[in-house]
Amino acid sequence: MNDKQRVAVQAAKLVRDGMLVGLGTGSTANYFIDALAQRHAEEHLQIQTVSSSVVSAIKAQSSGLPLLALEQVSRIDVYVDGADEVTADMTLLKGRGADLVREKLLAAAGREFWVLIDQSKQVEHIGQNFPVAIEVMPFAWRMVQRSLSEMGAAVKLRANAGGDGLAVSSYGSLILDAVFDPELSARDINDRLNGMPGIVEHGIFLGLATAVFCGHAGKVTQQSVSGFLPESG
Ligand code: 5RP
Repeated sequence: MNDKQRVAVQAAKLVRDGMLVGLGTGSTANYFIDALAQRHAEEHLQIQTVSSSVVSAIKAQSSGLPLLALEQVSRIDVYVDGADEVTADMTLLKGRGADLVREKLLAAAGREFWVLIDQSKQVEHIGQNFPVAIEVMPFAWRMVQRSLSEMGAAVKLRANAGGDGLAVSSYGSLILDAVFDPELSARDINDRLNGMPGIVEHGIFLGLATAVFCGHAGKVTQQSVSGFLPESG
């Protein structure tokens, strides 16, 4: 079992009967869906799920998990997802999968938001290893690019995986990848992006995570808003 799988199994053990669980997107979220589906099948866990992307909806359905549409949901018990970067104060950078609107909606709708990572995701500052993904209205991308450049950011329009077209989110947005001055704090960048016309959503998740499960060398460390919990194997 690798570290991502281990944190996913650990988190799935904490899900209880009656919960409505938000499913994230990415390789770690996939391990969580597998672990949850296994508990659902073997222990007859009474849960419902809602997905942050078409790809995890398909996975959840084919794994036998009961799935609600996003439109049916106003509040969820817990959202469980991976992240690309996590700082010590549990600020996250997400968005390599580009579906930021659904991901942030579910993270904010959760009474809890559990973040599943391995140690490679822990960083000193947001933007250390990845650019900040920014979903923009397609007709607004040049204006947003200019505004970001005026903040001193280096900005690229994201290409699709095949490199023969543009990356498009399930909401129909284009994606700008922006590298900011490391002196700018995540809060400053977050506040500027939140107020910039043409931006639909962005990958800085500030003040949303309630617990971070980090896998390293066969152990899982759990940090929550109330502090660090003991390691478990
Ligand atoms: C998708 C995300 C993912 O959670 C993030 O990219 C981590 O992915 P992985 O679990 O595959 O390392 O934010 O938009």
